[in-house]
Amino acid sequence: MTKIRVALVGVGNCASALAQGLLFYSGSGKEMNSIGLRNNLLGGFGPVDVEIVAAFDIDERKVGKDLSEAIFAEPNNAPKLVDMPLSNVVVNKGPVMDGLGEYTKNVVHVSSHSEANVPLVLKESDAEILLNLLPSGAVEASRWYAEQSMVAGCAFVNATPIFIASDPGWVKKFETAEVPVVGDDLIDQVGATTLHKTLLGLLSANGVRITQTYQLDVGGGTESLDTLERTKDVKRVVKTKSVEASLPYPASVVAGSTDYVDFLQNRRDSYFWIKGTYFCDVPMQMDLKLSTVDAPNAGSVLLDVIRAVKIARERKMKGAILPVCAYAFKHPPQLMPLDSAEKSFAEFVNEEV
Ligand SMILES: NC(=O)c1ccc[n+]([C@@H]2O[C@H](COP(=O)([O-])OP(=O)(O)OC[C@H]3O[C@@H](n4cnc5c(N)ncnc54)[C@H](O)[C@@H]3O)[C@@H](O)[C@H]2O)c1
Repeated sequence: MTKIRVALVGVGNCASALAQGLLFYSGSGKEMNSIGLRNNLLGGFGPVDVEIVAAFDIDERKVGKDLSEAIFAEPNNAPKLVDMPLSNVVVNKGPVMDGLGEYTKNVVHVSSHSEANVPLVLKESDAEILLNLLPSGAVEASRWYAEQSMVAGCAFVNATPIFIASDPGWVKKFETAEVPVVGDDLIDQVGATTLHKTLLGLLSANGVRITQTYQLDVGGGTESLDTLERTKDVKRVVKTKSVEASLPYPASVVAGSTDYVDFLQNRRDSYFWIKGTYFCDVPMQMDLKLSTVDAPNAGSVLLDVIRAVKIARERKMKGAILPVCAYAFKHPPQLMPLDSAEKSFAEFVNEEV
């Protein structure tokens, strides 16, 4: 089986977890240990079939370095999970554009290397999927990479909360370029939003009338710092809409991020509060805390997305791949309840063509 050739934009914490995960699961054949993966085989592809063939960043501690070294360079603080051998993928410098905000400009040190010709690197490395892992505030840079993916004929995976796959104008462009696009804003494997939606769905299916609920979190990765300055509002809209969709009636819902706590490193603490009434209008409340490490939380879902997008490419699909968007992203072009999204994803993967 040929490898699925992936290029990374942004060699931050998520990229670190993904690259380490590929090595960690490289031995996971059909019968072998695949604990921690949502799907070991997907459409016949295992994690071992995924290969990172190119990478772009702007930080001097990453650009010009082998990917195996760059993923552990500061300010990355995702945990080291495996010893990485040389990858022979050297990180290229991309254009900075709006990659840095006021809060992150002292944390990320811009490299003085000259900028690579991005479409040329994508073509020469024979990349078929471009995975956008830029900071959530890098709106212009993300759009620019979306354009470059079309120029190079690469499918575009948008893990950021910037609206691309959910923007009809962008979807039209990808249809015209005959390239698949999926997004926006990746759902975590053990995600606060998924947990919140599941709890609300469960309580309301049991007859509880939810009246008010919130979900707030703090984290210590660079992305949490960028969120604090530039994307708190958009993340709140995306998460709140997604959580509201799990209730069959209106309620007061707030879901968003609150702050950056540097000593948490790559950890994230999420707090949930739910208030409602049940039999004879008797009140109930729930208080919960979920503690996770951010970057590994993206790994399993990213692996599913990469393999599903490969399937879409093999089927010569173009534009937004709706079942993949609804299954793996918080702000897809069409929001679906969790169970419907999983069902349509499974049908898409297993479809006879
Ligand atoms: N579990 C998760 O971590 C998770 C879940 C959902 C969505 N996301 C999204 O994934 C994205 C990446 O998250 P992360 O934690 O890896 O972020 P990060 O801040 O650790 O990494 C971002 C990387 O992009 C680089 N960068 C900045 N501007 C650039 C440019 N113009 N060109 C190339 N590289 C540039 C930075 O140097 C850094 O290496 C974010 O948008 C985040 O919202 C992450």
